[in-house]
Amino acid sequence: MNVVFLGATKGMGRALARLMAARGDALFLLGRDAEDLEKTSADLGADGMRPLGHYACDLSDASSFPQALDRAFEAFGGHVDVVVVTAGLFDTQDALESDAALLRRVLDVDFTGTVMFCEEARKRLMERGGGTLCVFSSVAGERGRKPVVLYGAAKAGLSHYLEGLDHRYRAKGLKVVTVKPGFVKTGLTAGLKPPPFAGEPEEVAELVLKGIDRGTPEVYAPRAWGAVMTVIRNLPRFVMRRVSF
Ligand SMILES: NC(=O)c1ccc[n+]([C@@H]2O[C@H](COP(=O)([O-])OP(=O)(O)OC[C@H]3O[C@@H](n4cnc5c(N)ncnc54)[C@H](OP(=O)(O)O)[C@@H]3O)[C@@H](O)[C@H]2O)c1
Repeated sequence: MNVVFLGATKGMGRALARLMAARGDALFLLGRDAEDLEKTSADLGADGMRPLGHYACDLSDASSFPQALDRAFEAFGGHVDVVVVTAGLFDTQDALESDAALLRRVLDVDFTGTVMFCEEARKRLMERGGGTLCVFSSVAGERGRKPVVLYGAAKAGLSHYLEGLDHRYRAKGLKVVTVKPGFVKTGLTAGLKPPPFAGEPEEVAELVLKGIDRGTPEVYAPRAWGAVMTVIRNLPRFVMRRVSF
């Protein structure tokens, strides 16, 4: 597959990119730091196929999206099968409640920036008859919950958008794969106490790659989080007000 990848420098994105490169998928990397992208390319090349190239793209700067995606699509002569977005920001509810600038940054990157990027990617995929758009949202967007009111709101909006996009365009050739990770041990969650069912980036990457290959519209990872969220979605409000999760 020819894959354009935003977010391969760290965490789950890194694990997924490694898996793809190892099986021979051709990657073009997008990200906000050229040095990190170069280092990631070299690392991926050591285990599998070295990415075709990389280009600067910052989710907090929508003006960078068209040029970055044009460069990536040109590198494949227009033949892109998959666009992956694992890039995203997180902070705790306490930090976001007490720092308005940080809150704006997280909302901008996780919702507005990601949606704007997906719109540019969608147009380019559709011009060529379709493809797969795989985007990392979160289980935090499934239900309004005390520890993730603000981050969860951005991810809820993102999940809603991605679901609508899949409904609107699947019959025309665009498959949207929304990944909903539960707690996964990466730099993003460093310092937080892992809950039961916490996962590792590598197991998430395996599940997501299967989801991309099959065009699964919604991937919970690790898998147990699908069942956990079914329970949480059905808890009555008076219970949600009492519990701390
Ligand atoms: N870990 C979890 O428990 C968990 C749970 C639910 C959902 N998620 C979601 O899953 C995705 C991946 O999470 P992760 O844990 O793998 O995170 P991570 O290890 O912190 O990696 C985040 C990635 O996003 C990139 N990024 C951040 N801000 C960016 C920006 N403004 N423009 C472009 N790239 C940017 C980072 O690039 P740099 O190298 O430049 O920093 C990095 O590659 C995120 O969307 C996150 O919200 C994570």
